[in-house]
Amino acid sequence: MTLDWISPAARVRNLPQYVFARLDELKTSARKQGIDLIDLGMGNPDGAAHGSVIAAAKKALDDPNIHGYPPFEGVGSFRRTVAEWYHRRYGVTLNPENEALPLMGSKEGLAHLAMAFLDPGDVVLVPNPAYPVHFRGPLIAGAEIHEMLLTAENDWVIDLSKIPEDVARRAKMLFFNYPSNPTGATAPREFYEEIVAFAHKYEIILVHDLCYAELAFDGYQPTSLLEIPGAKEIGVEFHTMSKTYNMAGWRIGFVVGNSQIIQGLRTLKTNLDYGIFAALQSAAETALNLPDSYVSEVQNRYKERRDFVIAGMAELGWNITKTKATMYLWIACPPGIGSTEFALKVLSETGVVLTPGNAFGTGGEGYVRMSLIADCDRLGEAIQRLKSAGITYDSFQ
Ligand SMILES: Cc1ncc(COP(=O)(O)O)c(C=O)c1O
Repeated sequence: MTLDWISPAARVRNLPQYVFARLDELKTSARKQGIDLIDLGMGNPDGAAHGSVIAAAKKALDDPNIHGYPPFEGVGSFRRTVAEWYHRRYGVTLNPENEALPLMGSKEGLAHLAMAFLDPGDVVLVPNPAYPVHFRGPLIAGAEIHEMLLTAENDWVIDLSKIPEDVARRAKMLFFNYPSNPTGATAPREFYEEIVAFAHKYEIILVHDLCYAELAFDGYQPTSLLEIPGAKEIGVEFHTMSKTYNMAGWRIGFVVGNSQIIQGLRTLKTNLDYGIFAALQSAAETALNLPDSYVSEVQNRYKERRDFVIAGMAELGWNITKTKATMYLWIACPPGIGSTEFALKVLSETGVVLTPGNAFGTGGEGYVRMSLIADCDRLGEAIQRLKSAGITYDSFQ
């Protein structure tokens, strides 16, 4: 029985359905029909965390002194490890006391940052397409979103010159994410310099999501916002342990950068949660200290999958951009069919799950996103199924 008066607040009622929740419903119904799904829909890495990370978590569990509430601001040694990692990777110096904060996954932190800093009516600049939390966090906060439309013509990089002067003046916060989910695009260092100057000029908080910090190939090294002079005065950067370290289910990430921004987020969070179980923070420390050879191995795995799929899909008529980073391929829908219709057709006729590009905003229409979260055998099977179903780039004209 559903009672009308048990009704969520407008901030929840008015949220569009979360795309992955909708996709989950469709997957469940396909499974019920006995379809063997090849799920390339979510950015959920396949496989386990490194053995030493699991061992560190087990060892920590044996310590009777860490089973209580962890410190609100995170375990000191994890914050210090983050600062050391930053220095090693980017040459950036961070004060572990107030410029690094562990999070229960970066999604949680991104959403709460919007709530900590945005009042109803505040203007926030968000790319379209974008990782959904970049616009859903501000929506929950009641902010006014100004979409920065990304286009293939501009290589999916934000064009700051397209932001109207009056909007820039009113904006309080700007979200961006390179290497990008969903497009797989990267941004040149000059773009980071431009955006830092833009944020200083218009007094805008910069929020960079560097979730795919290490999933980069062919010698490409993603830029950290904090490498740019002046960035730490106005910005923060989010990281996750989910992707490179196969720890998506462990729910741990961190934010670094401007201490005033971090303090605002921390104040909100001390009212909402008690932080991350210390055993997980201990395991995350181990992960950040894994040798570079571990990271190279992960990079090679995704690179091999990327090349395999691009070559296989080329035989079906697709010309897919060779991404320099991320675990995604951003694939143009065949002419004559939209994103949702194409993803549903592929799902119902082949059991292959792709995410429709419009799930990331209207700017993603005309594309689907494929996550490279299966081995080449399984990816080959997915391509073979498309072929058998007669689905090629030209099949809808
Ligand atoms: C760009 C981006 N940011 C954040 C996240 C969330 O990561 P976490 O597992 O740390 O919440 C994802 C996950 O797919 C992502 O793609």
